[in-house]
Parts: sequence; C-alpha cells; structure tokens
Amino acid sequence: MLNDLSILRHPALLLLSLLLAHVSSAQTATANPKKFVPGEIWLDTQGKPINAHGGGMLHYGSTYYWYGENKAGVSWLPEANRKWDGYRVDVTGIHCYSSKDLYRWKDQGLVLKAVPEDPASDLHPSKVVERPKVAFNPLTRKFVLWMHIDTADYQTARAGVAVADVPTGPFRYLGSTKPEGADSRDQTFFVDDDGKAYRIYSSEWNKATYISLLSDDWLRHVGRYTRAFIGQGLEAQAVFKRHAKYYLIASECTGWDPNPMHAAMADSIWGPWHELGNPCTGPDANTTFGSQSTCVFQVSGKMDAYIIMADQWHKSNLADSRYVWLPIEFEAETPRLEWLGRWELRIFDWPHGDAVTRQ
Ligand code: DGJ
Repeated sequence: MLNDLSILRHPALLLLSLLLAHVSSAQTATANPKKFVPGEIWLDTQGKPINAHGGGMLHYGSTYYWYGENKAGVSWLPEANRKWDGYRVDVTGIHCYSSKDLYRWKDQGLVLKAVPEDPASDLHPSKVVERPKVAFNPLTRKFVLWMHIDTADYQTARAGVAVADVPTGPFRYLGSTKPEGADSRDQTFFVDDDGKAYRIYSSEWNKATYISLLSDDWLRHVGRYTRAFIGQGLEAQAVFKRHAKYYLIASECTGWDPNPMHAAMADSIWGPWHELGNPCTGPDANTTFGSQSTCVFQVSGKMDAYIIMADQWHKSNLADSRYVWLPIEFEAETPRLEWLGRWELRIFDWPHGDAVTRQ
C-alpha cells in the first residue's frame, strides 16, 4: 500500500497528485458554485475570475445581468492622487455577466468599451469610468446605463449615460453632464414602482448626497432634486425599496480603504431620511467586513429576499478585488448584516438549516 511518503519517491505519482490537487481546487470554485463564498475568487462558467467591480444588478426576463467595472492590468498611483492613495487601472470598459441562478455567471463581454483612439473621450483609458448601473425602461424599451465619469485625479466629477437595445449591449455612449450644475461622483440609479427613475450620487465634493429625478426616457436630469446627508461625506450608494419604505445604504469616504456602512430609511425617495446607523454586526462590522457597498437587489421568486453586493477592494492590485454578497436580515424595518463565510439562497427559505456557514 502507498503511504504519504511513498509519493515523494515516485515522481510520476507526485506529479499526478499535484495535478489532482490543482483540478480539485479549481473544481471547488467552478463545478460546484451553488453557494456564495464572500471574499474568495469567484469564477465565471469558463473558469475565469469574474471582473465586474463597483457593479449593479438587473433582473430582466428570467435572467440576472451583473454589470461592473472591468479592472484589468497594472494598478498604479498617479502623482496627483498620492495624498489619498488613489490607485487606478486604465479604463478598459464595463463588463457584463448573465445568470439564471445567481451562482453560475456567463461572460457576456465588455458591453461598453474604452475608446483608446480619442484622448478627449470620456471613455479614454486615461479617464475614470466607475459604478455602472443599468435598468430597463419599458417606455422606450431601452436599457439605460448610468456611470461616474471622471479624469484620473477625480476632479471632473460627471455623470455619463449610455443606451442599448438588449441587456448584453453594445451600449451606445451618449455623453456626460454636471447634473444640477454640480459635481457627481459615486452614484446609483433607482427605479420606483411607478416607473419614475432617480439618480442618487455624491456631490459637493462628496459632502452632500443628491437625489435627482430623471426624464421619462431616463436619459436626462429634469432639474428636480434634493440634497441629503449634508456634511456627512458619503459615497458607494445603494438604494432599494421594501414594504413601501425606501432604504439608502452608503459608505464613508476613505478612498479604496474600507470604513463603516451607513443605512437610512424614508417614506419618500425625497426624504426626510431617518438614519439607522451601521447595519453590520460582529467582528469587522466597522470596516463593512473589509468591503464597500455597491448595490442591493431583490431575489426573484423568494419572499423578502434582498442581497447586498459589496467590493473588497485591493487597492495596489485592483484587478484582484473581491466580491462580498450577503443576505440582508430585517428586524422589523431595520436592516442587519452579519458576516457569513459561505451561504446559499436557501437561507431565504424557512427553515434554512444548513444553508449557512458563519466563519
Ligand atoms: C471610493 C469609491 O467608492 C470608488 O468607486 C472609487 O472612486 C474609489 N473611492 C477611488 O479611490
């Protein structure tokens, strides 16, 4: 019989066992993805790491579409951003993945690509294109993509918009604006039950959160807006609605470094917003489990099932940033988040038994 050490005496056996170890670790991530493992490398259906950061989720038909920043290539620190560790990668585009079950993600490619041939373009690799969010407009039957557009030093602060006929693009870039004559950095896009759409974004050097109504085609700001959370310095907004209450999740502003999450609730998208503090509990609650919010979405076909998507940024190697998705629990109207090392969608069913591993 072979014992552990006999492997070392047989190079062919050693090679075979290394090969099997490699195959089985790759399989843990690809072939059996019926669970979420926050902070690990998540692979697409071809076995490649999913590259969709600062992203958003669209549920259309019976498919989920995950859009995010494609972070590829070397991360580097421009001189102008040295004071705040503002690392960057050159812009390559917005990546889209599709899934029927939220576990297995098919690569749909770059649905909005960088424009290397035009240095003046908002989409030139030297710029910043962040926090893409997509929704389907039933009036125009277009898919609308809003995003943060900036120069490498984050001083330009504009809102960019693009449209597509199908969720997998290609998206046609329409340009960028300074909405309400003010700056616009981190942002999200929220569609209410009545079909009205809003952009929620950091403005006034991140010192205020603006909530702006969009035109019926969702391509323009119509000039109706409110300023909220004044003086607080919030970004990474995610907005959702549950039982007729509006929720806003956000982070503080510490560059790529994590900080405590903020939650607030309102009866109207216009506020007043009632602050709920940090919904995270347990160890690492003060750093949002080492991550930063980007989107909250509802799981189709499940009762009261909300998932928060967050990014665990790796600032000096942004391409290796990871995803933290967690189920939101509600204590009456108050959202709560706890770290789960592994979990499955069965957590939303009752009883959920072994659908969770806390560590
Ligand atoms: C935090 C923002 O939330 C990110 O989208 C990005 O702009 C980084 N800051 C840059 O440091």
